[in-house]
Amino acid sequence: MCGIIGVTGTGPAVPRLIDSLKRLEYRGYDSAGVAALVDGKIERRRAPGKIRALEEVLVEQPLSSTIGIGHTRWATHGAPTRPNAHPHKAGRVAVVHNGIIENFAELKAELEAVGRVFESQTDTEVVAHMMDAALESGLEPTKALKSVLDRLTGAYALGVLIEGEDELLLGARRGSPLVVGWGEGEMYLGSDALAVGPFTQKISYLEEGDFVAIDRSGARMFDADGQAADRPIVQVSASAAMVEKGNYRHFMEKEIHEQPDSVQHTLAAYLDLAGMKAKPVESVDLAKIGRIQIIACGTAFYAGQIARYAFERLAGLPCDVEIASEFRYREPAVSKDTLAVAVSQSGETADTLASLTWCKRQGLKTAAVVNVHTSSMAREADVLWPTYAGPEIGVASTKAFTAQVAALLSLAVAAASARGRIAPEEEARLVKALFEAPRLIAETLADDSDLRDVAQELAKASDVIFLGRGQMFPLAMEGALKLKEISYIHAEGYAAGELKHGPIALVDEQTPIIALAPLDAVFEKTASNLQEVAARGGPVIMVTPIGAPSPHGTAVWRVSVPDCDPYVAPLVHAIPVQLLAYYTAVQKGTDVDQPRNLAKSVTVE
Ligand code: F6R
Repeated sequence: MCGIIGVTGTGPAVPRLIDSLKRLEYRGYDSAGVAALVDGKIERRRAPGKIRALEEVLVEQPLSSTIGIGHTRWATHGAPTRPNAHPHKAGRVAVVHNGIIENFAELKAELEAVGRVFESQTDTEVVAHMMDAALESGLEPTKALKSVLDRLTGAYALGVLIEGEDELLLGARRGSPLVVGWGEGEMYLGSDALAVGPFTQKISYLEEGDFVAIDRSGARMFDADGQAADRPIVQVSASAAMVEKGNYRHFMEKEIHEQPDSVQHTLAAYLDLAGMKAKPVESVDLAKIGRIQIIACGTAFYAGQIARYAFERLAGLPCDVEIASEFRYREPAVSKDTLAVAVSQSGETADTLASLTWCKRQGLKTAAVVNVHTSSMAREADVLWPTYAGPEIGVASTKAFTAQVAALLSLAVAAASARGRIAPEEEARLVKALFEAPRLIAETLADDSDLRDVAQELAKASDVIFLGRGQMFPLAMEGALKLKEISYIHAEGYAAGELKHGPIALVDEQTPIIALAPLDAVFEKTASNLQEVAARGGPVIMVTPIGAPSPHGTAVWRVSVPDCDPYVAPLVHAIPVQLLAYYTAVQKGTDVDQPRNLAKSVTVE
């Protein structure tokens, strides 16, 4: 996750850019930069390290301007050096970017073939060159931007500054958020409300695929098709901007929609897309450990169970996953070559923390996959493996869950590589698949009309069954947990093959069955399990890729997700699972963000 700010007005823009970047350092801080128009020309100042380093550069080489863009970076493509720091410039254009341009290698080759020269290893620089080329071809700025956006694959937010356009800034979003801030004679672009919080509390949240042109007097917004769009101006409170709901009705909904960004940010911490490999894990020798013991509660436990399939199948690393409240009192027999991994959003859950401490006392090496990086678990474990979901306010965990899955699936690739279990080509394929997940999540979020219809039906049910095989089995249990906790409907998650050993007795016309069925090695087996339940009158809802066949002779209600590599299917299928619970709860009118009897962080036994 990187931070973006843009300012166009009449006062000095650069101090405003710096003020905002300081607030955005939580999104990434390995390098920072600003670009501004000085006497009609783009001037840049960039520095590796924290914003302090950029400020020092600006003391030496000040920039005086009323328009500019700024960026604080979390490196994905290319090391955190000055040449790789944003803004990137080509000809008349400077660009700041948050996200991933998945097809940058192919676009870069095309641009190089027509003589364009690159100065960084980033994916972002292609956008600057493409935009410059589009302007050179005579297109006016918004048309030029649209022509560039049409060629980009990935999840991104962009800010663009153009020489010769003294008041104009352009922005665009797909997958990663971008807001427009409305000031008095001054307008702003920001990666979130916090970015523009010091200057204005009047915000328009751009929608998926939108792009925008701002100048001192206002904003022209366009939807993904280039049609004029009107996004409402909402009032947020500056101090709480980070934890505001924005345009969303509930924090849970907002957090579900933040997942392209939070997953991407987490993946970037563990994977190197430029090198197409997992980043080396230095703190633990993954080649030497004999076993992994994951300990967690609730949703984090299901993230751990999903990871087990990856650690075992991909890395050949035995992996046990246990609920912390059981583990801590069971006196488990552990071998010294075991790596104990606590998984937790809060890093404070009492049972998980106690299990972690117990493992440490047994002399085991310990790691903590946690979202709150200053938490007790983060401090207690030998190794911190952070997730970058950002603050999660909704009690029902959503973006923290997918961030945990993203981190663990990435670590499994690192383990497989360290243990010599996968060739570099296979590692590159998996890294590519993982980096595609943010875009696929964004695509899934963009079309949720089927899910709203299904939720209307679920809201009438008293019991719901979730089914899945392989990695979809823990996700089925997570789906049941989400539905239970916020809609208060009884739900259970089962391994699809286990149904006929008892639970199928529950199936009747009133019990919806939600099957999570990616096109993986066990798809056919899941499909035949669905025939069994459909034959007993159970209404079947199949969450499955667009390209998957429907089970022969069985009426199913299909909810489509984009086709994806089975390795990342848990990340993509998590979205409908969460949205189904969310829409069902909204339909039932429950308190979605603070469901009864629950607390966000369970620091008691
Ligand atoms: C469910 C949920 C809980 C938590 C569990 C562990 O939506 O949020 O099941 O996952 O209480 O909490 P952490 O991850 O903070 O250890």
